[in-house]
Amino acid sequence: MTTPATGASAAAPLISFTDVRQVFRLQGGGTGDPASATSRELVALEGVDLDIEAGQFVALVGASGCGKTTMLNMLAGLVAPSEGQVSLGGAPPPLPNMDIGYMFARDALLPWRTARKNVELPLETRGWDRARRAERAREVLDLVGLAGRESQFRLQLSQGMRQRVALARTLAPNPSILLMDEPFAALDARTKLTLQTEFLRIWEQHQDSERRKTVVFVTHDLQEAVLLADRVVVMLPAPGRIAEDRVVDLPRPRAEHLGDIQFTDQFKRTTHDLFERLEGAIGDRVARPVAK
Ligand SMILES: Nc1ncnc2c1ncn2[C@@H]1O[C@H](COP(=O)(O)OP(=O)(O)OP(=O)(O)O)[C@@H](O)[C@H]1O
Ligand SMILES: [Mg+2]
Repeated sequence: MTTPATGASAAAPLISFTDVRQVFRLQGGGTGDPASATSRELVALEGVDLDIEAGQFVALVGASGCGKTTMLNMLAGLVAPSEGQVSLGGAPPPLPNMDIGYMFARDALLPWRTARKNVELPLETRGWDRARRAERAREVLDLVGLAGRESQFRLQLSQGMRQRVALARTLAPNPSILLMDEPFAALDARTKLTLQTEFLRIWEQHQDSERRKTVVFVTHDLQEAVLLADRVVVMLPAPGRIAEDRVVDLPRPRAEHLGDIQFTDQFKRTTHDLFERLEGAIGDRVARPVAK
């Protein structure tokens, strides 16, 4: 078992947000005459400071609109901060970044491609040849429990299977950074637990090695955050900001015990304590922890 990372190491962090402010200008109203056009500013993020070390699994939790996706988009190089700095390995995040895998809440599978062809997509972008693509796609589909489903199309797959395909696609090019935007939010409780377990099993395989992936995992579900992550960062909305940054000291590996961990006193205490501190401050979309 490893000791969870504390975020306190002297090594330079892989990811760093420094006093980040993000303002979006919302256009609206007006009569067509420039003088009458209305435009207002929306402060999506304010004073965000966050360092993440390589190999750490960090969960961002918070109500809708507190800027979680915006932070992932910044790491993916899709959004540049209005003020402050976002850095990845000491430089502004590049675009495109072939070392990043980005997974969304709803599968973004192309309906005219089979499961295997969807998984091959990021490999095509990276210039892999046909044989290597097919082999790798089969391998990762197998890894997420979809062997035998390679030739099926989106419509033939359940929501859980679609998310497995999306997970396989995210993992296929073996990126060292995973940005996960509520990847399991659309699933029923049972399927969610299965996918959490499979994902964590894959991540924890390399928990003690250099190959361990850095994960930034966005969720509305405080329990999911505590269950999976080394560290839980709680955000508040309007403007989006960080309210809490806690190390989760549940031992690893956890994958094989997720169902049981949820009923341990340590888990309940951590979740409840975090929730108590934030109750009233967080939007009601954060799941309430199981009562003690
Ligand atoms: N490109 C954009 N243009 C204008 N406003 C934006 C843009 N992107 C995000 N916003 C606004 O910034 C705020 C933060 O959005 P973001 O999507 O990061 O929130 P979130 O925490 O991911 O929310 P959710 O939990 O609902 O996904 C929201 O008010 C959103 O409307
Ligand atoms: Mg979002």
